[in-house]
Formats: sequence, C-alpha cells, structure tokens
Amino acid sequence: MLILGIESSCDETAAALLEDGSRIRSNVVASQVAIHRQYGGVVPELAAREHVMSIGPIVRQAFAEAPAKYEDVDAIAVTQGPGLVGSLLVGISYAKAMSMSLGKPLVAVNHLEGHVYAAILERIASTIAMESPLPALPALALVVSGGHTSLFLVDRHSTGTGFRYQLVGRTRDDAAGEAYDKVAKLLGLGYPGGPIIDRLSPFGNSEAVLFTKTKISDHSLDFSFSGIKTAVLRYVQKNNIRPLDPRVRHDEKDVPPIMIDLAASFQRTVVGILVRSLQRAIREFHPESILLSGGVAANSELRSAVLEFCCGNGLDAYIPPLALTTDNAAMIAAAGYDHYRRGELVGLSLNAEASLPLARKGC
Ligand code: KG4
Ligand code: ZN
Repeated sequence: MLILGIESSCDETAAALLEDGSRIRSNVVASQVAIHRQYGGVVPELAAREHVMSIGPIVRQAFAEAPAKYEDVDAIAVTQGPGLVGSLLVGISYAKAMSMSLGKPLVAVNHLEGHVYAAILERIASTIAMESPLPALPALALVVSGGHTSLFLVDRHSTGTGFRYQLVGRTRDDAAGEAYDKVAKLLGLGYPGGPIIDRLSPFGNSEAVLFTKTKISDHSLDFSFSGIKTAVLRYVQKNNIRPLDPRVRHDEKDVPPIMIDLAASFQRTVVGILVRSLQRAIREFHPESILLSGGVAANSELRSAVLEFCCGNGLDAYIPPLALTTDNAAMIAAAGYDHYRRGELVGLSLNAEASLPLARKGC
C-alpha cells in the first residue's frame, strides 16, 4: 500500500512516498527559508508563487528517490489546512490533478494531525511486527510550531483505526515558534529564529533576565507568548541593545553577551511555559504517553525537558527525529493512510481551509 503525501501549507513544498503507513520510501522537502529570510517572516504571496514553481519537481523527485512509478501509488494524501490559503491551494490543485489523471483516490489531511503522526512514525516503523498498537492511549500531544501551539488529548478512533482528538489547550495569542521568530527579528539574529536562539542559548546565562510567565487566570491549559515577546522588546529598549545584521549568520563569537543572555533567558521561559502546561495536563488527564511535535519540537532544551519529565513519571515519550519535526509530507501520508483505511475519501471539490480545526475545544 503506497501513499503519496503532498504538503504545502506554509513555506515548505514537500512530497513523500510512504509504504504501509510507516515505511518512508522518500521524503523530499524544498524550503523557502532563503526567500523569506530577508523579510524576517513568511510572505504569503511569495510562498504561493514558490510552491507553484517547486511542486512538480519535488513530486517527481519523491518518485525518483523512492523509487516508484506513478501507477504504483494507491492513494494521494494532501494537506487541506490549516495554513496559508494560497500555499495550500497549490498542493491541493496538484493532488487533485494527479488523482484525476491517475484515477487514484484522494484523502484530505489536517496539518496538525500530520504533526501528531510525525511524532510516532519512526516508532511504528521500528515496531511494525508488534501486536500492541502504538502509542499507549490516551496520549497527550503537544504540537508546537510557527503557526500553532496546541495540546490535544488523543484517543483511539471509534473505528479502531487511527485516533480522535480533543483540544485541551491552545495559544491565546502568538504561537511559540512565532515568538521565537519575532524575538530573533527584533535582535537581528536572522530567520527562522528558533534554531538560532536554540544554538546561542547554551552560551548564555538563562537566569540573567527574569521574565514572568503569563498567568492564564482560569486554570486553563492555554498558553500565551505575547507577554514575553513584549518583555523582550522592553528589555532591548531599556538596555539600548542594537539589532545585528539579520543577513549574516551569527554565532556566540560575534553576538554580544547581553544578547546571548537574553536569548537564553527567553528560551528558558518559553520551555518553562510549555512544560508547565504539559505537567498540568498530565495531572488532569493521566495519559499513558506524551507526543511532542512541530517545528519547535526540534528545540534541544524542550526535547530534553520533556524526555526528562516523562522518564521521571513513567510516561512513554514520542519525539520525532529532527527531520520530521518541521513540515514534511511523510507525516501527511502517514495520517492519510489511516483516513484511507477508514474509507474517508474526498472528491475534486476539496477546498483549502486556512483555519481548519483538528478538534474544537471541549470536543
Ligand atoms: O512546523 P514548522 O516547520 O512550521 C509550521 O507549521 O509553523 O515550524 C516552524 C517553526 C519556526 O517558528 C521556527 O523558528 C521553529 O519552528 N523552530 C524552532 C527550532 N527549529 C525550528 N524553535 C525553537 N527551537 C528550534 N530548534
Ligand atoms: Zn507545521
């Protein structure tokens, strides 16, 4: 059973071929970072135009690397949303055209569900012969990226195949990755900010600047990152910190110590906010396992904090390899595989949904 996955929700054009729901035959990602870097963030019009140019070559490359022929594919899974509508439409149009010309079924996948599958993909592949389904359920999934910071309670789908989701926490303002990108932009460190701040942080004193973690009054599991972003701005203004040239690759040797300390303190606070909500959710829902995914799941401090916490509490932690943390199409094909097995096919009227929810709060 071979699934072609197509992903184009933001600034990565990606195609992958996945066999039997877990064996990655190819996973090709074309990043647009070089284009958006000069603006310090994704420019939607440029992203859509770039997707149009890349999608054909990327899909062809995925088939060449697998290697596989177009006729070998059993179904095509594509990201329907959430994401930038112009970007999503490119992937969807291409997937529809392939579905029609090859006469293969089409499956629509929620991008956030893709991230959930990214966390478990490698483990399913290595334990394929095992009887017990992975992960142990219920699980808590923290999807934390440039566009989202959401906490889902994951349980078995009523059909027995795949999962159902309950949204138990979400960001009330910026996503965690967005906060990383905005802080890096403010400091002139470059784009995307997450990997740069992560790289600098071990060289700084993470207790140099004490940020208060925004309190969300009603004991909810929601997150907030706009407060810390504003606090960084105030600190920069008060200490007269001048931004660096974002076009240059910076490291600990040329970044002023005050900025490295600020980056380390920021990272420590963001990781603290994420882990605090996760711990609260664990006390409330008593999950069997924890899934961490999305671009910010590449963060070294977050990965070790979650691993350490899970280890100390007897919880199984599912953290994707670095290549599967950021956007890719293998995760879309993996989620698509379960939709296909449940017979959830879509027609050529499929449309992009910029705010497609995976689950509404309380559902
Ligand atoms: O999942 P992703 O590729 O795209 C979205 O769906 O948003 O995530 C991209 C985000 C960016 O905001 C980037 O700064 C952040 O993930 N990111 C990181 C790290 N690597 C990527 N944030 C913190 N630490 C990292 N190592
Ligand atoms: Zn994503």
